[in-house]
Amino acid sequence: MLIMKTLTLPPLQGANGTIRLPGSKSISNRVLLLAALAQGVCEIRDLLDSDDTRVMVGALRQLGVTVESLAPDVVRVTGCGGEFPLRDADLFMGNAGTAIRPLTAALALTGGHYRLSGVARMHERPIGDLVDSLRQFGAVIDYQETEGYPPLALKGGEIRLPEVITVRGDVSSQFLTALLIAAPLSGQRTVIEMSSELISKPYVEITLNLMARFGVSVEREDWTRFVVLAGQAYRSPEVIYVEGDASSASYFLAAGAIGGGPVRVEGVGKASIQGDVRFAEALAALGARVSLGDNWMEASGPADGKLRAFDLDLNHIPDAAMTLAVVALFADGPCTLRNIASWRVKETDRIAAMAKELRKLGATVEQGTDTIAVSPAPTCGNGVAIDTYDDHRMAMCFSLAALAGVSVTINEPDCVAKTFPDYFDRFAEVTAPVIAIDGPSASGKGTVAERVAARLGYHYLDSGSLYRLTALAATRSGIALDNEASVAGIAAALPARFKEGRIWLNDDDVTDAIRTEAISAGASKVAVLPAVRAALLARQRAYRRFPGLVADGRDMGSVVFPGANAKVFLTASAEARAERRYKQLIAKGMAANIHALLQDLQERDARDAQRSVAPLAQCADAERVDTTHLDIDAAVGAVMEIVQRQSAGKNK
Ligand code: DC
Repeated sequence: MLIMKTLTLPPLQGANGTIRLPGSKSISNRVLLLAALAQGVCEIRDLLDSDDTRVMVGALRQLGVTVESLAPDVVRVTGCGGEFPLRDADLFMGNAGTAIRPLTAALALTGGHYRLSGVARMHERPIGDLVDSLRQFGAVIDYQETEGYPPLALKGGEIRLPEVITVRGDVSSQFLTALLIAAPLSGQRTVIEMSSELISKPYVEITLNLMARFGVSVEREDWTRFVVLAGQAYRSPEVIYVEGDASSASYFLAAGAIGGGPVRVEGVGKASIQGDVRFAEALAALGARVSLGDNWMEASGPADGKLRAFDLDLNHIPDAAMTLAVVALFADGPCTLRNIASWRVKETDRIAAMAKELRKLGATVEQGTDTIAVSPAPTCGNGVAIDTYDDHRMAMCFSLAALAGVSVTINEPDCVAKTFPDYFDRFAEVTAPVIAIDGPSASGKGTVAERVAARLGYHYLDSGSLYRLTALAATRSGIALDNEASVAGIAAALPARFKEGRIWLNDDDVTDAIRTEAISAGASKVAVLPAVRAALLARQRAYRRFPGLVADGRDMGSVVFPGANAKVFLTASAEARAERRYKQLIAKGMAANIHALLQDLQERDARDAQRSVAPLAQCADAERVDTTHLDIDAAVGAVMEIVQRQSAGKNK
């Protein structure tokens, strides 16, 4: 595996765009275990594919459960009806708290012999409260190294059901979650009582909600007593969808609030069962403009000025709360985060880690046992290197600091693989600067855009080539170019690669094949089809990468990148464009007729301008450059001047 040691984010000026979230870690790992314990087969869709879920899948397979991967985010689990086929196993749980806690409980109550261990940090994360509760069932559990911590040896025991099981709730709510998930395995009425106050209650709500989806209901009396009635067993719901990860959503929403926005996340919204959606409320309390749909959330910066300073109890959103500690850098005064003691026993001591790294950015930070107070830095340090402590959330949180317009280096960025393997690519899709250059065919925008990209050191997207490739691939497959569904299918799965100035379709170099007049006409035909445009949208947006992107096409500024940092509309008279094309063809030794070319261009212009979806038109906020009387260098100069002026204006 390639380990990336550092990642340097460029100074970022703003954030806008839309992101589809990966599946929720909390839901994914609970659902995997519930499906394994249930009777019947369960297909889990939109499952998170990350280190922590791989730990759970690996452990279940080791226990003899059939887990088939149907796609990266779809698995089929054949439930074992509460009895794992293998009664003896040595399980390595990495640093996945959501895997080791519930699995320990389920295995302890099934009476086999198991060993559970993890990485060094996992052996520093407490599990004693859970073991104490499981011993009340008669489970025999030994600590193999340090009392109260993994690794654990489960040695069976005479499992019996006491009247009441007690568990502490003030270190981690996962201990209660683990007991609740395991309790129905006894088939008896089980009463669980809290012996200390329960923290992070929304995570227990996720547990109860998912147990109900698998056919087991729990009577909850306040947050102190939970009763699982006798005679209940998990039954597969056959198909279950995992919601997007609400904790992961926090980085994007925060980016929108800090960087102007709007930034929209899809996959989680007001219908969510995850407590971390309430991060949106916290952002709104800071003055950010926030809106929620059933399955999306969106945030923009405050209508007037800066985010407000805050003093908040964040016990209900412990993970997303970390994001607020970095948002505090952008507030108009000192901020305090309260009731976050659980940070101390997570992937790292998050209070200490957060304090240390925020200070590198110039903030004044005070840490208490369960609080952290952050006074924003007057100027955030440029070129700072942030340590991440093998904690995915540290890495993701501190990417936001680059929105202060400073370069930030993230050490060991690959730790995001725990919950969000392609986080930095997605982050670039809402923060990397974009220059949109639109205009009609043969206006010179391709050449100009490519040179502007080279001057800035940015990536370059020739969106027209995607329509051309679609037309070529459809033609080669014998699909009629007005067959919308089939052509859209081709566009969605286009096996295209752009490499060193050449364009490939599978293993075919099609750089010249997509430039013929026949394919030009075909591209213009497929470009009128709404389903084709929709199929190419996410693909085009994925070209937005650090340090930036120059995109050319017809709808870059209007549809694909409406929040672009600079927008240019490049045009020329039809006669000038026909003449350029004529010269190009003659230079290539191809036959050409200037009148036919002019007529062709005019017809194509008309088709591009009149189509119902994304017609060719100058955006209100784009500046026009007429290249009829300009040579390439002059056109590039004119565009660079606009780019610098517009970007500076937007960054104010
Ligand atoms: O820029 P070009 O000539 O390579 O574009 C080929 C065709 O694709 C052209 O008819 C317009 C269409 N197109 C589009 O509709 N939207 C884009 N963003 C880019 C191209």
